[in-house]
Amino acid sequence: MSRISLSRLQQMKQQRERIALLTAYDASFAHILDAAGVDILLVGDSLGMVVQGQPSTLPVSLDEMVYHTAMVCRGSQRAMVISDLPFMSYTSAEQALHSAARLMKEGGAQMVKLEGGAEVVEIVARLSSMGVPVCAHLGLLPQSVHKLGGYKVQGRSEVDAARILADARALQAAGADLLVLECVPRGLAKRVTEALQIPVIGIGAGAGTDGQVLVLYDMLGITPGKRPSFSQDFLQQAGSIPAAIEAYVAAVRRGDFPGPEQGFD
Ligand code: KIV
Repeated sequence: MSRISLSRLQQMKQQRERIALLTAYDASFAHILDAAGVDILLVGDSLGMVVQGQPSTLPVSLDEMVYHTAMVCRGSQRAMVISDLPFMSYTSAEQALHSAARLMKEGGAQMVKLEGGAEVVEIVARLSSMGVPVCAHLGLLPQSVHKLGGYKVQGRSEVDAARILADARALQAAGADLLVLECVPRGLAKRVTEALQIPVIGIGAGAGTDGQVLVLYDMLGITPGKRPSFSQDFLQQAGSIPAAIEAYVAAVRRGDFPGPEQGFD
């Protein structure tokens, strides 16, 4: 079976078919997510927090990302696998190429994700020119949590919103194939989605994007502590993990998730 391709994602955007993503960190969960119809498995560096128990994503190493990516690829057949470039693994175009090569050659990822706007545009252009599919990430950037002063909604002021929109356009022009928008007001997410040709995936960004992503452990209600307000515990009602994943995919496809209470103004 061949995996979901970039052209299929592009077609989904054009045909307004919503794209369902979840994070995955190991082969067993990857198998369940794949069978339930999740389009993209994101090996997120959120694994630092939900798997390793770290206070942030910053300690995650490239070796660890390669290790988890390989497991997720072994456990799945149909979904596209995107792997996060971890903190400080893409400080230059040459380092980014080396890191992306490891995620793709050793891990088996089909795309890599990196955080940032104007400051990473040249890196995105270089990756793209060398045949590396790139997912950009704007809004709340967890790798910059100490600079941002916490996990806060981004893009609320006119100036910040304009910067995010300009960054999104610049990343697309540099060759980004996908964009994740995290924790931004729903109106801004809709504007960015309408302005771009590439699919835009939201998390805490309202229902107006081309697709949704959640941290797997949050949507199963197994993350220790408080669940983010934009997430939902799908396991509670569904009763089994496969049924919870299927319910999430169906809710995303129908546009029922996120609901009005699961976003920001
Ligand atoms: O690391 C991660 O899981 C992510 C998602 C929250 C988008 O980047």
